[in-house]
Amino acid sequence: MLKGKKLAVIGVGKLGEALITGLLKEGNLQAQDISGSVCHEASLERVKNKLSIAVTLDNKKIASDADVILLAVKPQNMDSVLGQIKDVIDSKKLVISVAASVSTAYVEQRLNQSVAVVRAMPNTPCVMNAGMTGICSGTHSSAEQMALAKEIFDCVGKTVLIDESLMDGLTALSASGPAYLYVVIESLAEAGVKLGISRETSTLLAAQTMYGAARMVLESNAHPALLKDMVTTPAGCTIDGLMELEEGKLRVTLIKAVVKAAQRARELIS
Ligand SMILES: NC(=O)c1ccc[n+]([C@@H]2O[C@H](COP(=O)([O-])OP(=O)(O)OC[C@H]3O[C@@H](n4cnc5c(N)ncnc54)[C@H](OP(=O)(O)O)[C@@H]3O)[C@@H](O)[C@H]2O)c1
Repeated sequence: MLKGKKLAVIGVGKLGEALITGLLKEGNLQAQDISGSVCHEASLERVKNKLSIAVTLDNKKIASDADVILLAVKPQNMDSVLGQIKDVIDSKKLVISVAASVSTAYVEQRLNQSVAVVRAMPNTPCVMNAGMTGICSGTHSSAEQMALAKEIFDCVGKTVLIDESLMDGLTALSASGPAYLYVVIESLAEAGVKLGISRETSTLLAAQTMYGAARMVLESNAHPALLKDMVTTPAGCTIDGLMELEEGKLRVTLIKAVVKAAQRARELIS
């Protein structure tokens, strides 16, 4: 469904760039099928050099020429961007918003007509085609348009369909999640350094271990607790490490971090 479609990405910042890079890598869209927009003149060159797509400051023009419009500006910029493109959006186009906290109703109201809107929440590993995206449907998006949105995000990783009421929770878990996990990798690498291993090797050990553990969870379908038990030899060294983690309240800290981020996600647009 995606082949031959024109995609406009309004707001080619960190997330917009990650998505475009992933889509181009996968080859489902060519550079000439994608156009992008930014806010500042100075950003035009940055995007042109990095992505070799057409880039402009004119949101209305690229929205008018596209079949799918992906809104990747900050939540606080959504109102003005929707105002700029409102007149060129018709019922044949699909509007996808990746802005945290911005509901499909918010977008629909500002576009002021029966426009197909999908809310999506990807994460930056899309750049490596290892992204995780949640999508939910607005009032007027058809099954076919949802399938098209899913196809876009499937190109850059995995996609789940989720109820809109759970979007802030998903934002806090998988969109913010890479930041938490980078802290974990950084901390494990620091431990390696403390134990005399070079920083470069320590970072490789930590990151590849996290990658391997994630693959074990995804591909074995085993409960993470069971996989943890497989590493924990009675009277071995892992149990001592795990006891330190329990004493440092790692589990409850991670749970509270995600819950707190979800609360904040609810406030971003108000
Ligand atoms: N970063 C993530 O991991 C992540 C994950 C999921 C969802 N999101 C969502 O993605 C959106 C963008 O986040 P980000 O981290 O990519 O932010 P960002 O790096 O600041 O990018 C925002 C981009 O929007 C552009 N922009 C601002 N106003 C504009 C306008 N009126 N017209 C056209 N472009 C405009 C900016 O242009 P200039 O470069 O010229 O300033 C910038 O390139 C947010 O709504 C966020 O909630 C982000």
